[in-house]
Amino acid sequence: MYPVEVKLNNCYESIRAKIPFAPEVALILGSGLGEFADEIQSEAVIGYSEIEGFPVSTVPGHKGRFVFGYVQGVPTVIMQGRVHYYEGYPIADVVLPVRLMWKMGAEILFLTNAAGGMNPEFRPGDFMMITDQISNFVPSPLIGPNLDGLGPRFCDMSNIYKRELQEILRSTAADLGISLKEGVYVQLTGPNYETPAEVRMCRLLGADAVGMSTACEAVAANHCGMKVCGISCITNMACGITDSPLSHGEVQKAADEAAPAFKRILSEGIRRMGAL
Ligand code: 6GU
Repeated sequence: MYPVEVKLNNCYESIRAKIPFAPEVALILGSGLGEFADEIQSEAVIGYSEIEGFPVSTVPGHKGRFVFGYVQGVPTVIMQGRVHYYEGYPIADVVLPVRLMWKMGAEILFLTNAAGGMNPEFRPGDFMMITDQISNFVPSPLIGPNLDGLGPRFCDMSNIYKRELQEILRSTAADLGISLKEGVYVQLTGPNYETPAEVRMCRLLGADAVGMSTACEAVAANHCGMKVCGISCITNMACGITDSPLSHGEVQKAADEAAPAFKRILSEGIRRMGAL
């Protein structure tokens, strides 16, 4: 077995020794969006540090734990806090949690993040459903020996963010009266924010929102056959789109304000996905 696979299996055994829970949906909560997990009907909570070999996040505002429970009756595993490539972990470690949740049984991955808006039509506080992504600024998590038990060597990426899940999110937001923008997410390595020239480059490449997570997780999830959907919370405009400088505090504040509407979309969206 390859080292990545050994680590994954060890984490899986470590979690299975604590809990038999089989989730249908896996949800990753981004910066400032973590409190959704505090409101669900929780069965168990496991801190990342309790899982041997599991990468533990160092970012302020990111808790580090799995919450297992039911969202509107749908068995769900929630990650309160994720690890980022900029923390220095190998990209395979960054996506290990996704693979782990897949191994536990999750067939749907719901990704969320705080992102900078680059589409001039966007405003801070907007939600953007991710329709496609650009992940090439970070290494592919599929580099290295292929894990044949997970998926194919040369993996198709033509439909990562599944159209049926997009349709659910679109109609959920409409029914709740919450505006939901759509667009392409680009992942950069961070941890620094972009220069205005870099933002112009990303815009030219076709991206609408920029962040430091998510796309690599979506690649790994698509590889092992999970259906992926995602929503970015546009916490601020990217550099040069407006001329206000960026701070992590501002990002968290905007995420806090958006949280109530965000929670409603998550909760109702997952309920509808559970009925698939
Ligand atoms: Cl402007 N850039 C990046 N890379 N990540 C962000 C962001 C901007 N705003 C929130 N997250």
